[in-house]
Amino acid sequence: MIETIQQDHRNIMQLLQVLDNKISLLKEDKEIDYRLIKSIISYLKDYADKYHHPMEDLIYDYYLKYRVVTDQVANRLADDHHKLKVMTSELDDLLGMILLDAIISKELFIEKLEQFVSRQKLHLVYEENEILPAIKNSLTAHDWAHLNLQWKHKQYADPLFGKSISQEFESLAERIAQL
Ligand SMILES: [Fe+2]
Ligand SMILES: [Fe+2]
Repeated sequence: MIETIQQDHRNIMQLLQVLDNKISLLKEDKEIDYRLIKSIISYLKDYADKYHHPMEDLIYDYYLKYRVVTDQVANRLADDHHKLKVMTSELDDLLGMILLDAIISKELFIEKLEQFVSRQKLHLVYEENEILPAIKNSLTAHDWAHLNLQWKHKQYADPLFGKSISQEFESLAERIAQL
């Protein structure tokens, strides 16, 4: 499970890199393909929020319950996941409007996108540098077997980084291959 989570993090980092590149282009007043941003957000909404975070939540809940962890850690993880979900959905709505040709100021969009990318990165770094190492040190093979069993019914196929790429994400996959 931890391998899946860390692989997801590497994948999400690539998506954030694409978004960073879009932010630079927007700031240089260049034309960008908003549909590509939309598909990144769709991926995060449909995959990260539905499978990645719930898998983490399962592990974190277990860890928080059976190991001594400060309230601060528990609160931060829950807050981060909640906040990221809200931000993803807001950005998705904003993009939906832009794609429908609604007038949205470019400055506002850049600001929202930058906030989103930086919040995602902070969360990733926090998990990778602090939470996951602590969990790896603390949980035993027995704990992992227990967690695996609980997750079993939620197997899923990654539509972008998985074995087969869904049609929806074909152009995004091509863009990622160029990184
Ligand atoms: Fe997370
Ligand atoms: Fe994560």
